[in-house]
Amino acid sequence: MAKVLSNKIASIQPSIFSVISAKANELGAVNLGQGFPDYDCDDFIKQAAIEAITTGHNQYAPSQGTAFLRSAIAEHEQKFYGLFYKPNTNITVTSGATEALWTTFQAILNDGDEVIVIEPSYDSYSPCITFAGGVYVPCKLVNDTYELDGRLLQSLVTTKTKAILFTNPHNPTGKVFSKEELSWIVTTARSHNLYIVCDEVYEHLTYDCNHTPIPMLFDEPEVKDLVIRISSLGKTFSVTGWKIGWVLANETVTSAIRAVHQFIVFSVSTPMQIAAAKALSFITENPMYIREYANTLMVKRDKLITTIESIGLIPYIPKGGYFVVANFSKVFSGTSREYCQFLLEENMVATIPLEPFYSKNVSLPNAVRFCFSKKDETLQNAITNLAQQNLTSKPIR
Ligand SMILES: Cc1ncc(COP(=O)(O)O)c(C=O)c1O
Repeated sequence: MAKVLSNKIASIQPSIFSVISAKANELGAVNLGQGFPDYDCDDFIKQAAIEAITTGHNQYAPSQGTAFLRSAIAEHEQKFYGLFYKPNTNITVTSGATEALWTTFQAILNDGDEVIVIEPSYDSYSPCITFAGGVYVPCKLVNDTYELDGRLLQSLVTTKTKAILFTNPHNPTGKVFSKEELSWIVTTARSHNLYIVCDEVYEHLTYDCNHTPIPMLFDEPEVKDLVIRISSLGKTFSVTGWKIGWVLANETVTSAIRAVHQFIVFSVSTPMQIAAAKALSFITENPMYIREYANTLMVKRDKLITTIESIGLIPYIPKGGYFVVANFSKVFSGTSREYCQFLLEENMVATIPLEPFYSKNVSLPNAVRFCFSKKDETLQNAITNLAQQNLTSKPIR
């Protein structure tokens, strides 16, 4: 008889992103589901990786990351945000933001510790917390404008609360948290001595605004001490397959993170770290490069929004990231999974339902997520397919 598996496995569902993509491929549908570009990264980034391999950077890197990349990350922080992180004691290189999140919660949680997670939330947050013995406590953004209710946040704190976790700019909504909302998070964390874990993988993809990390807004050592910031290279440079990420934290937390990280992956791909350092240094020297990329994305965003509105959906206008979340209540009366299936089968456009971004037993918005980091032709095909909805005029079911 087969051995019984870990009880934790039972709580893990197949990722919605893989399920939808498989279905989209099977049907030959336009895939606006998965959150990565269908265009390639720039040549200078590829060349940097090739050069790192051909010049012999092919053995294990130091576990905490190469000195070259940690310095590039420190310079990036200083240049973009005026923040100082020491490469030797505050920066750890990880296998993408995914490993950074996993490692962080292994490092800070004890059994039964609670983490307040601002919802809708990225799908890896819940397993990261529960596999570390923690308890996931949702704090749902309210209204169609996805606002943080500061009083709700405060009411969720108990003696077991250890941290608040959120994404900024936010996935799936593309919300950029306001100063007032960040202030609620900081006040709550300070008064109860909680960590603030902030996932900033979309930090450079902002529209008509700039990303502001919490320690930049609240320039006090105690605040910086509480904040654990996570980011990665994938979204900024369109290299999601490279899986190079990092965690910025105080010295004590960094030591704990490194202790865990060494036994999860030990170290991250050496040549890719060298190339990542070159890419980061490039934007530190040429910030306009990344602004221009964000502007290109903004044009794609606006095109998609116009189509979404024309078929009767109500989009939330994202100020960051590369997704548009749109409410379908006016045109469809089922769940977000059903609407997703409808768009896939009737319009040949794959989207992601919002359900998997929420914990069980909360009331869900009637909304789906569209990804716009796609080639113009992909977007045009999606727009043409979606416009069919007007012509065939599928009524509310
Ligand atoms: C909010 C968020 N965090 C983390 C990740 C994973 O980042 P990485 O590919 O660097 O592991 C993603 C990827 O889509 C994301 O959207």
